[in-house]
Amino acid sequence: MRVLIVYATTEGQSKRIALRLHSDLAEAGYRPAVHNAAEGPFNLLDSFDALIVIASVHHGAHQESMLTFIKSHLDKLQGLPGLFLSVSLSALLPGPDHKADVAKYIERFTLETGWQPRQCLPVAGAIHLLDMDYFRKELAKVILRQTLGKVELDLSHDQEFTEYDKLGRQVKDFLDQFASKSFEIG
Ligand SMILES: Cc1cc2nc3c(=O)[nH]c(=O)nc-3n(C[C@H](O)[C@H](O)[C@H](O)COP(=O)(O)O)c2cc1C
Repeated sequence: MRVLIVYATTEGQSKRIALRLHSDLAEAGYRPAVHNAAEGPFNLLDSFDALIVIASVHHGAHQESMLTFIKSHLDKLQGLPGLFLSVSLSALLPGPDHKADVAKYIERFTLETGWQPRQCLPVAGAIHLLDMDYFRKELAKVILRQTLGKVELDLSHDQEFTEYDKLGRQVKDFLDQFASKSFEIG
């Protein structure tokens, strides 16, 4: 089964997730390829059986490069089984307010793009602030504290929250629903 993984990233976590999924899927016998949405359109969409879209949330929205990518391929994407992975800090956090935030990010993305993925999964991302210059880092901390609300989290060092093994299983479960169909086609 040929699977296109498209990602958009700001601090690098979504790219890490894309590359990890690529290696998990290749190992499991799928035929994956990875594309960075920021590099522009992808002309070989016809040659894939399924699509995984990975983008992260900043200031309540996913990357503009991913919105552009989806909108410019919308016709083809609607005919392809698609899984949307929305990477954020809110996806890690407990309670109804954070769940509502996650739902809002995903709804905004699907409304703005017009894309209807077969499934959407919120994915806990990471905190990667150490590479930032002083002002960017201080601004990021303000936004992250707003995102966290009452949850206390140490922002003084980088941390990764993505559960790669669990995510790999969820992605394979998604793809396996369509695997027999794609093998029939060829
Ligand atoms: C400046 C900044 C703004 C962010 N805004 C949000 C936000 O509004 N909601 C949220 O849940 N997470 C927010 N996050 C957390 C990111 O979604 C998280 O760090 C994610 O792992 C980033 O993925 P990336 O490295 O692929 O860009 C923000 C992070 C930064 C640095």
